[in-house]
Amino acid sequence: MCGIVGAVAQRDVAEILIEGLRRLEYRGYDSAGVAVVNSQGELTRVRRLGKVKELADAIAAEPIQGGTGIAHTRWATHGEPSERNAHPHMSKDKIAVVHNGIIENHASLRESLQAAGYRFDSDTDTEVIGHLVEQELLTHKDLLPAVQAAVTQLEGAYGTVILDRADPSRVIVARSGSPLVIGLGIGENFIASDQLALLPVTRRFIFLEEGDVAEITRKSVSIYDKNGAAVEREAHESTATYDAGDKGQYRHYMLKEIHEQPYCVNNTLEGRLSETSVLDETFGNGAAELFQKVKHVQIVACGTSYHSGMVARYWLEGIAGVSCNVEIASEFRYRKSYVQPDSLLITISQSGETADTLAALRLAKSLGYLGSLTICNVAGSSLVRESDLAFMTRAGAEIGVASTKAFTTQLVGFAMLVLALGKYNGMSIEKQQELTTALKSLPSKLEQTLELAESIEDLAEEFADKHNALFLGRGDQYPIAMEGALKLKEISYIHAEAYAAGELKHGPLALIDADMPIIVVAPNNELLEKLKSNVEEVRARGGILFVFADADAHFSSDETMRVISLPHIHPWLAPILYTLPLQLLSYYVAIIKGTDVDQPRNLAKSVTVE
Ligand code: AGP
Ligand code: GLU
Repeated sequence: MCGIVGAVAQRDVAEILIEGLRRLEYRGYDSAGVAVVNSQGELTRVRRLGKVKELADAIAAEPIQGGTGIAHTRWATHGEPSERNAHPHMSKDKIAVVHNGIIENHASLRESLQAAGYRFDSDTDTEVIGHLVEQELLTHKDLLPAVQAAVTQLEGAYGTVILDRADPSRVIVARSGSPLVIGLGIGENFIASDQLALLPVTRRFIFLEEGDVAEITRKSVSIYDKNGAAVEREAHESTATYDAGDKGQYRHYMLKEIHEQPYCVNNTLEGRLSETSVLDETFGNGAAELFQKVKHVQIVACGTSYHSGMVARYWLEGIAGVSCNVEIASEFRYRKSYVQPDSLLITISQSGETADTLAALRLAKSLGYLGSLTICNVAGSSLVRESDLAFMTRAGAEIGVASTKAFTTQLVGFAMLVLALGKYNGMSIEKQQELTTALKSLPSKLEQTLELAESIEDLAEEFADKHNALFLGRGDQYPIAMEGALKLKEISYIHAEAYAAGELKHGPLALIDADMPIIVVAPNNELLEKLKSNVEEVRARGGILFVFADADAHFSSDETMRVISLPHIHPWLAPILYTLPLQLLSYYVAIIKGTDVDQPRNLAKSVTVE
């Protein structure tokens, strides 16, 4: 969920650790801490509740020397956010540990460690790791086997880095369920939960695999797999870019990322379309052979990514002629599911590290799917490395917790998948040409739609004093209504829900009154006339409506209905276009409400714990 940074160097590393935490703060941010040890084995630990800035200020006031260190930003799962629960945690003032994830058997481990005389200073699950290592060190005498023995006793998910003040020449790291990446320097080496943290000091990375334990010194990296066998893992040159702190002229990352969408969608499309369709290798080597066998698609994701999967189902069944089921990962992974013959499993994830989605993929691998594809935004992430095929959305680092450009580029990925699968399910060349042409025009349509920002900012005023809102859509716009509701909820804290417009009369109509704004997404498609009837149902009951529609849809504004006209677009791609005004609406409402738009309360950017 949060951030880990570590270093073994000649030079003082405190600043490197703090800068790394700053770059990861968007992933988890209720507290932070560092532990640095110098060549004489003097260990200094500093922890602070709140933002990384609190920690940075404390260290600026009292600088820490030392070439070996570990650091952590925490998103609490066990033990309230507090300084005493912040990482690193210590065992016997000797072993320091930071950890991402959840130790599910922490209670029983705590009990046996306390019985063995270990004193706990925190309420966290993490603290058991340090005590276990210290206990194993009494037997194994060396930190590496002690960590290997300790982690075999852990159940749950962990990415963890352990430091022994008596041996400042190295750190030991272990990964199971929560990502860790080694950064290779010159005469120094690093570890982090995300490569973005280490870009100032290296671009060469080794991605640890599930079950790996590694010993990192200034001059060496030794990796052992889950069976304890020494392994070589390939080093990668990173092309990742991180423009942290560079919001440009924008007030928040979220607004910047909303406005980046035409550019990102262009990136997503670039080099992947021919004149008449999508290029086969767009989805990776072997995709064409696999796609020719696919008869059913099972999509699994969470949150906003789940909504893109819901849109994809309308397209895959309605256009590509392939049956499709979409499920929330935390449900899929715990139910006994039936795998239809010739099924492709698709996961969708901005971060590529969402615990439930990753667990669903790992479960599915034992269920007899033809193969797995992930639609993801982070190269080198677990989902990318563990899936057979990967489609990179190329949206660039998405820093705002509320997902925007990742969502629209996921939909573009699915649009290309529809073309790829449609090819093998009888889609005519003319149809492929029509859809390819529509796709190529999408960036400019998005650009035009963003010009509505000012009128949507005015609209936001009407929501400032509201406590509830209802989003309506039909067909492939229903998931867009769901996405609009999620955006409003998560950054303005106004309760919002989405309904398939045809369902309104089965109960939710009772909610309609002047205090319940109704937002409707109503592009020119074959359901428009039905949707207009639903709008009338609401108006007849005194509802206040905000309708996003084509200019020629003939909705007329009056005191109970505000109409915002969007550029005309091929109905297939309307879900992508109609997302933008809903993103802008939630952004401007949140500004009025004064919430922390980029880091809303209780949320984290990458949910790597269940
Ligand atoms: C979306 O705005 C939220 N931040 C959240 O629902 C997010 O989409 C979800 O946690 C899934 O994350 P992922 O795409 O990184 O897997
Ligand atoms: N479960 C650990 C804790 O609550 C780590 C949570 C995290 O991933 O930040 O401290």
